[in-house]
Amino acid sequence: MLAEIEPTDTWFTELIARLKQHRSNIDWRVWPEVGDPKEIEIVLAWYPPLGTLQMFPNLKLILSLGAGVDHILQDSSLPPDVPIARLVPNKLALQMADYVMQSVLACKCRVIDYRDLQQLRRWNPLFTPNRYQFIVGVLGLGAMGRIVAQRLSTIGLSVRGWSQSPKEIEGIDCFFGNEQFNAFLSKCCVLVNLLPLTTATKGILSHATFAALPQAAYLINVGRGQHLIEADLLKALESGQLAGAYLDVFNTEPLPREHPFWSHPRIVVTPHVAAVGALDDVVDYIIDAIARIETGSPLKNLVDRNQGY
Ligand code: GLV
Repeated sequence: MLAEIEPTDTWFTELIARLKQHRSNIDWRVWPEVGDPKEIEIVLAWYPPLGTLQMFPNLKLILSLGAGVDHILQDSSLPPDVPIARLVPNKLALQMADYVMQSVLACKCRVIDYRDLQQLRRWNPLFTPNRYQFIVGVLGLGAMGRIVAQRLSTIGLSVRGWSQSPKEIEGIDCFFGNEQFNAFLSKCCVLVNLLPLTTATKGILSHATFAALPQAAYLINVGRGQHLIEADLLKALESGQLAGAYLDVFNTEPLPREHPFWSHPRIVVTPHVAAVGALDDVVDYIIDAIARIETGSPLKNLVDRNQGY
């Protein structure tokens, strides 16, 4: 019972092999060879082609193969009553935290500036703020954002977070709602985006947002490419409003070869790898979700379709 859309890499092949090993009594089927659609009860989905999920009349669960579910909810023909769950193995957030921490520390240590200076063979020590002055803002305090914010705080950085609804997280200065958005941004030396992609958050990384940050702030986007208005980022880098950007997600993936981000001196590109679930964790997570369907136990990380996450 498996529909998967981008059979790109060994990760996916290995995932199927391990699932088959763990539960050999399940008839696993890989898209597009799904046989009779009426027999499919659970779909594991990652960017399913629009219109495919409605093909299965007896679905009991759609399980996103990632923490994000925008790739499922964007399908307007999605069957209305089937529960959707997200894949959030515990360690995924820790992986995300590693990625974010290394990018934040690179911002603080001015790695992009020193890379430029090295090219020019210039020995030019630059000012680096101390940890308390260097405020990191995390956009989105859900399953991922909360853990990332806490990890950043454990290495002594001052961390603030913003979410749609009020949150309380020890050690994190929490802001919420549209009214507090600019106050939140006004002190962020680095803005880390971990929001889910919804109609409310699409395009949130825009000129207005960048303008509300302190001069020469950094952007780290590990949410979705569609959060970012790419032309606004290029302008903000050109004007110096932003000093650099670490981008793991893009409007079009893979990032087209001719895209200006590839060669931009102040942009670091990685190919959507900030939090790829370790296979063992993902397998455990999927096996557990299936067991919950089989035994009628409550599902974990169910998605609220109205909220979009
Ligand atoms: C990755 O992008 C995910 O949604 O987990």
